[in-house]
Amino acid sequence: MPWHIAADTHTPRTHTCGALTSKDIGERVVLKGWVDTRRDLGGVIFVDLRDRYGLTQIVFSPQDNAAAHNMAEGLRNEYVVSVTGTVRHRSEDTINPKIATGRIEVRVDDLLILSKSDPVPFHVSVHTPENQIASEDHRLRHRYLDLRRPALQSRLITRHRVYQIIHKYFDEHDFLEVETPALMKSTPEGARDYLVPSRIHPGAFYALPQSPQTYKQLLMIAGLDRYVQIVKCFRDEDLRADRQPEFTQIDVELAFATEEGIYALIEGLMQRLWKGILDVEIPVPFIRVSYDDALRKYGSDTPDLRFGLEIIDLSTTFEGTGFRVFDSTLASGGHVLGMVVPGMGDRGRGYMDRLDRMVRKKIGTGGLIYVRWPSSGDAPNCSVKTHVLPDSFVQRAINDSEAAAGDLLLILCGAWPTVQLQMGALRLHMARELDCVPANEWRFAWITNFPLLDWDARERRYTAVHHPFTSPQPEDAHLLESAPGRVRARAYDIVLNGHEIGGGSIRIHDPGLQQQMFDVLGIGRKESQDRFGFLLEALRYGAPPHGGIAMGLDRIVMLLSDSDSLRDVIAFPKTQSAQESMSGTPSTVSAAKLNELYIQVRSTVK
Ligand code: AMO
Repeated sequence: MPWHIAADTHTPRTHTCGALTSKDIGERVVLKGWVDTRRDLGGVIFVDLRDRYGLTQIVFSPQDNAAAHNMAEGLRNEYVVSVTGTVRHRSEDTINPKIATGRIEVRVDDLLILSKSDPVPFHVSVHTPENQIASEDHRLRHRYLDLRRPALQSRLITRHRVYQIIHKYFDEHDFLEVETPALMKSTPEGARDYLVPSRIHPGAFYALPQSPQTYKQLLMIAGLDRYVQIVKCFRDEDLRADRQPEFTQIDVELAFATEEGIYALIEGLMQRLWKGILDVEIPVPFIRVSYDDALRKYGSDTPDLRFGLEIIDLSTTFEGTGFRVFDSTLASGGHVLGMVVPGMGDRGRGYMDRLDRMVRKKIGTGGLIYVRWPSSGDAPNCSVKTHVLPDSFVQRAINDSEAAAGDLLLILCGAWPTVQLQMGALRLHMARELDCVPANEWRFAWITNFPLLDWDARERRYTAVHHPFTSPQPEDAHLLESAPGRVRARAYDIVLNGHEIGGGSIRIHDPGLQQQMFDVLGIGRKESQDRFGFLLEALRYGAPPHGGIAMGLDRIVMLLSDSDSLRDVIAFPKTQSAQESMSGTPSTVSAAKLNELYIQVRSTVK
């Protein structure tokens, strides 16, 4: 059959594929788009034509136009076409009330094939059943095809709408959008830097921003008063579903800021986003949970508050049992923690053995101790034999943890704070087992009262829990020299359903205190001058008190669009191994390019 790719001689499209409805019956229209599916029903050819806006059924019948019908026989999925035709009612049996264009079709009398497509490597049709969607690896290799799927397009559309709401919100609140450099000096956010070699300065490197932290503080010293930027940040760190090496922050800084002012500002933004995207009213103010309480009750500084399963400290309950495991844990300063799982007291040995294996393998504990209390009210049954752990202690644990008949009491013991985090992981696992995590519930919280510093046992020095520019709480500042580990920070994180979606602090604006902070962190005078001399100097020229926050935009869009992975909300994401499989990034470069950057490549790390 002689046909070829045509120049687009049709008029511009009159409508998109999502626009036509019964109101347009009788209209002459021009549509352009991709062939989503083609069905040949006894001589009449039906095509679902797709674009970003929707699907329109277009119909080729030999009666309407024999030449166009002939040509339509050659159409294949993903061909790009332009059609001219007339809008008609669909026959009753083909009406699709689920889509906006489901009551009409376009009877085509002129077809142009604008672009052909090889058979696509995986289904991209709107109609692809869930179980036939190709593996993510395969889809990432042809991301431009994957992005044709409305499920992914709708997430990018959500992302776009999120940008618009953010810009408007901050504009209304007098913030200025200011761009900060992408080639900068390293900022200590705790991850490794992506480095860019300088051609003009042999041996010198730029760092891509892990965040614009120092620049936004300089903008406050410059008197800009209120800064916001939707900004790309880069961190060379281990990746997870909610971590990408290249991600986007909503970066905010305010002069004369207080914690309360920042909480209110961000709560307002979250309300605006959830209303604008999901039409959900979010109650404010968000609850506040101290860092210590978050770890104590939920075993995590990013607690998922959509369900209970709170952790109980049973250390005093189990004092003096004679049970070697508990006694040695408690003697070495460790803890015994419990968690009551309602309604699981009747679980059999098989289930408990599987849980024990999971806990050892995935959570990394030495093992799980449990008490099953049957719902019949029969005597509770402990996994440790009674001559090893006397019944009286088991009964006391039941009383102290307020377990009831039908409940399962899970117990872990170990060093502090490791055992807390292990219990936190077990809590999340049991919530999934119980299927007790409600959908469409939004539990925001501020995590407050973080410690300022963390002791790094391997390096034998303190590191900043947030970053070195975070202000100590004034009542603790005197401890900076004598007991640095006890100083609390003026820092806060915002968490939502178990994800950290933002973090910030009130900053140090006193150059003396900033220098002292570098001293406590073991950053010598020379090194602090080399790395942060510009900031220390700037702080001496009238720095206003200031503070801010950065929100993880990708994580917010992920949660707003009910996705499990950041990769679903980033147009061209990196894989788990920090690669972009489609273009083959990262890649080697020519010897000539390396040469002009004064770089020699070694195959091993020294
Ligand atoms: P922080 O390091 O907490 O703070 O980062 C702020 C928020 O950015 C998001 N985020 C990430 N998202 C995706 N992939 C990553 N690799 C990743 N790393 C962080 C998180 C996090 O809460 N300069 C400070 C902010 C400040 O003090 O104002 C900073 O960058 O949602």
